[in-house]
Amino acid sequence: MQGTYDDAWPWSPRRGSDVSYFSSSSHPSDADDELDDKMSQADTVEREEFAGDGGSGRNSSSLSVYSYHSSVDGSAILRDIHGRTFNNTSDNYMLPADVAEHDRLDLQHEMLKKKRGGLFFAPQAVRRALAPRDGSRPSILDVGSGSGSWVIEMGRQFPHAEVVGLDLAPANLRSYRTPPSNCRFECDDANLGLLHYKGCFDVVNASCVSLGITNYRKFMDEVVEILRPGGVFLTVEGDMQIYDENYNPVSLANEGEPGFTYTVRLVGAILDAMRAKGPGIDAYPKIYDWLQDQGNVWRDIGQKFLYIHIGPWEDGMSAKDKQISELMRQDLLRLFQSAKPLLLSYGWFEETVDKWSAGAEEEFKILKNKYYVRWLSRWAIKPGQTT
Ligand SMILES: C[S@@+](CC[C@H](N)C(=O)[O-])C[C@H]1O[C@@H](n2cnc3c(N)ncnc32)[C@H](O)[C@@H]1O
Repeated sequence: MQGTYDDAWPWSPRRGSDVSYFSSSSHPSDADDELDDKMSQADTVEREEFAGDGGSGRNSSSLSVYSYHSSVDGSAILRDIHGRTFNNTSDNYMLPADVAEHDRLDLQHEMLKKKRGGLFFAPQAVRRALAPRDGSRPSILDVGSGSGSWVIEMGRQFPHAEVVGLDLAPANLRSYRTPPSNCRFECDDANLGLLHYKGCFDVVNASCVSLGITNYRKFMDEVVEILRPGGVFLTVEGDMQIYDENYNPVSLANEGEPGFTYTVRLVGAILDAMRAKGPGIDAYPKIYDWLQDQGNVWRDIGQKFLYIHIGPWEDGMSAKDKQISELMRQDLLRLFQSAKPLLLSYGWFEETVDKWSAGAEEEFKILKNKYYVRWLSRWAIKPGQTT
C-alpha cells in the first residue's frame, strides 16, 4: 500500500451496539510514540473499544479491548488509486486520505482560521451552547474531520467538552499532534445515517464535506435531530469556481479561446469529474436556502462569503492578507495534485492533466491572474437551551 498508514489509526467499524472507537482519553499521551513503534514493528496494536451507548460517547469510561491489525483492517478501509491512498468505503468522495492530503487540509484549516479570526463563526452561540453545565457534558461533532485539526483545536479550546471527529478514513494523528483526552475519532460514513446520535451534540461542524454527502438536504434534517436545544450547526465550503478581481465568476474557456487560463480550465475539469461522482458537489450553493426551507427548526441562521486572493496579487494588501493569500495559493496547488487520480479516473490523459497543472503552477508563480476563491460559511442555531 502506498503511503504509510501505520499512523492511520484509530478507526471503528459500523455503529450500533457493536460501535467501537478509540478515545485518546484512554491512551496516555506519552504512550503514543511507543504505540506507533509497535505498529510499525509488529503491525498490530491493542486499543480500547468502548461498549457504546448508541454512539453518543457519553459512557466513554467503559473500556474493552479491540485489536487493530493494520495489514488487514488497513486494506479494508483504505485503497490505492493512481499512486495515492483513498478511503475504501465511499465512491462519491474521491480525494485522497493520505498524509499529503492531510497536510493540504491542515494548511487550508490555518487559512480559514486566519481569515475567520477563529475556529468558527457565530462565536456567542457556540460558546453559549458549549458552556459548562450540570447534567450533561457539552459535545461537539465534526463530520468529515479529515486530518483532525479542527477536532484537536476545539478539544483544546473547550477542555470540558467532548469532541468527536467522524470520517471515512482515519485522522492524521502523528505524535506531535497527540489529541487531548477529550477528543476521539470514529471511522464511519455519514451517508449511512446519523440518527444513532439523536440529541447528543451541542455543535455539529461540517467543513468542506458536501462532496461526500449523497443527500445533503437529508443530512441537514439529521443534523437538526442530533443537535440538542440551543445547538449550533456550522458549515463552510469552498466554491469550485474562480472569481475575478471584480468578484465575478470567470467563465470556462478552452485552450485557444479568448480568456483561457490553465487555472480555470483545471478547476472546471475537477468540477466536472466531481459531478460525475454524485450530487454532493452541487449541494453547497443551496445550503443557505435549505436552512431557510427547514423553517422553525432553526431560531437563527446566517451566512458569510469570504473572498480569498490566490496569491498576493493586489497592491496594498496587509501582511495578514498576504499570508492568507499564500496559503490559498498553496492549497490550490496541492488540490490540483490531490485531484489528479480523480481526473485520470474520469478519463483525462495524464499528459493533459500534467500540462494543465504545470500551466496553473506557472500562472500562480508569476501571479498572472487576479483571482479569488470564494468560501461560503453558514451557521444555524436550534431554538431552546440545554439545561
Ligand atoms: C475536504 S476534506 C475536509 C476535512 C476537514 N473537514 C477540513 O475542513 O479540513 C473532506 C473530508 O470529509 C470526509 N468525508 C467525505 N464524505 C464523507 C462521508 N460521507 N462520511 C464521513 N466523512 C466523509 C473525507 O474523507 C475527508 O476527510
